[in-house]
Amino acid sequence: MSKTVFVLNGPNLNMLGKREPGIYGGKTLTDVENDCIAAGRDLGFDVDFRQSNHEGDLIGWIHEAGEKAVGVAINAGAYTHTSIALHDAIKAISVPVVELHISNVHAREEFRHHSMIAPAVKGVICGFGTASYILALHALKSITA
Ligand code: DQA
Repeated sequence: MSKTVFVLNGPNLNMLGKREPGIYGGKTLTDVENDCIAAGRDLGFDVDFRQSNHEGDLIGWIHEAGEKAVGVAINAGAYTHTSIALHDAIKAISVPVVELHISNVHAREEFRHHSMIAPAVKGVICGFGTASYILALHALKSITA
């Protein structure tokens, strides 16, 4: 039986493909979702892929993942750098969470260097373009096997 993983996306990631393509690439979020579903199938995961521009939605989905999923991959977008509430939500569940970013946040503006959620997650993947999502699924596979 397949195990469910949640792949959660925060603000502005619905704009992928149009948004700063020199940084985030040309794929749309639907392309990334399809790539994640295909990679998940190979890894034995059912991928539940979601995006919201609202912090509270992400918090509710993290809580839901704690009941329904074996792991979470999250690109929290700019909330990464600001949200104590996301940090607390991740701490409130016992399934592993992998933080991911398309861009190498450490090679960008100073305000992107700090992650509020990094201390609460199992590990962080960043800088590999949209392949960061696939690498995060592999990371979840290695820690949930
Ligand atoms: C991002 C990096 C964040 O700093 C930014 O706010 C995003 C996307 C990334 O995937 O590279 O929205 O999380």
